[in-house]
Amino acid sequence: MKSNTPFKMSMSKISSFIDSVTYTAPSNIALIKYWGKKPVQLPCNASLSFTLNNCHTKTRVSYKKKEAINDEFNFQFFFEGAPKPSFEPKLQSFFERIEAYCPFLKEYEFLIESENSFPHSSGIASSASAMAALASCLVAIESKIEGTDFTTAEKNQKASRLARLGSGSAARSIEGPIMVWGKHDLVTGSNDDYAVVFDKPIAPIFQNFQDTILLIDKGEKQVSSTVGHGLMKNHPFAKQRFLEANKNLSVLSKCLVDGDMETFIKIVEHEALSLHAMMLTSDPYFILLKPNTLKAIEEIRAFRKKTGINICFTLDAGANLHVLYPNSHKKEVLHFIDNVLYLITKGQGYICDYIGNGVENI
Ligand code: PMV
Repeated sequence: MKSNTPFKMSMSKISSFIDSVTYTAPSNIALIKYWGKKPVQLPCNASLSFTLNNCHTKTRVSYKKKEAINDEFNFQFFFEGAPKPSFEPKLQSFFERIEAYCPFLKEYEFLIESENSFPHSSGIASSASAMAALASCLVAIESKIEGTDFTTAEKNQKASRLARLGSGSAARSIEGPIMVWGKHDLVTGSNDDYAVVFDKPIAPIFQNFQDTILLIDKGEKQVSSTVGHGLMKNHPFAKQRFLEANKNLSVLSKCLVDGDMETFIKIVEHEALSLHAMMLTSDPYFILLKPNTLKAIEEIRAFRKKTGINICFTLDAGANLHVLYPNSHKKEVLHFIDNVLYLITKGQGYICDYIGNGVENI
């Protein structure tokens, strides 16, 4: 479902650029959460995520060599057809962080155009897909201008590392269907620098696994994730949380192989609530859950009990609920969502997504 629609940019703006590359990158949803980091953007525990498919960012980066080299990063950023100067400081610090890995950055001018497949300000975090798409474009540009002949593995690792430096969770959006970021003894090749594909055979029940995102609250986040991660520094439960996340990853890893849905559900919901428990017990505390998030959770539990269908929820840093279920129960679950959960969203609705495979060059 990748869109091939042209960007909402006038051709005159790009005509002076010599070349461009375009990538789509999906969002991802963590089942084992990353919350708490060390400089520079390194995780305090390993995390594991499902790569999504439909919720993605499409980014085109056009570039040309500067006429006179200066000591600045020169770029313009357009979001959905309009200049977006408010995003430029974030890009500036991203470029500063990745310069050591991309020495060509100050030799070129860039025009970065981006758009999301999901509705604007739907409360869906877009930094993972945005940073993964941009990082993939920059690796492809390096390959073109420097003639670097990356293997697929090198290309993915580099894109994941660069994306991580923009937004930690973005490291996990380069590939799929299940990604691990952060060193963990049970996952071959796992490390803090870039994410790797979960290396074990996955039980058939997880193929085409569904994620329907209930739009409970479309508002802007009250707390940036940078501030949230920062509050884990002096958090009274931090040490225990990091140990527990790594332990939960071991247990979940086995569930993914064995198809043990009961334990899967227990761990996934516990992780979601632990993430929010950290927020509720930080100093200062913050509450991102809304009354309707809790109401939807109650309904999901009741539906699971009544039908025996393996449906569960997870949460990101916000009030929206990700409803996870096997593809084989799509019909019954969508019926439940339409008749029960939709009402809780007060007409804001939901987005249907499923497990996907990462970035695409288009
Ligand atoms: O990617 P960041 O640095 O904005 O951190 C977000 C972390 C969570 O989305 C809350 C959890 C996760 O592991 O994705």
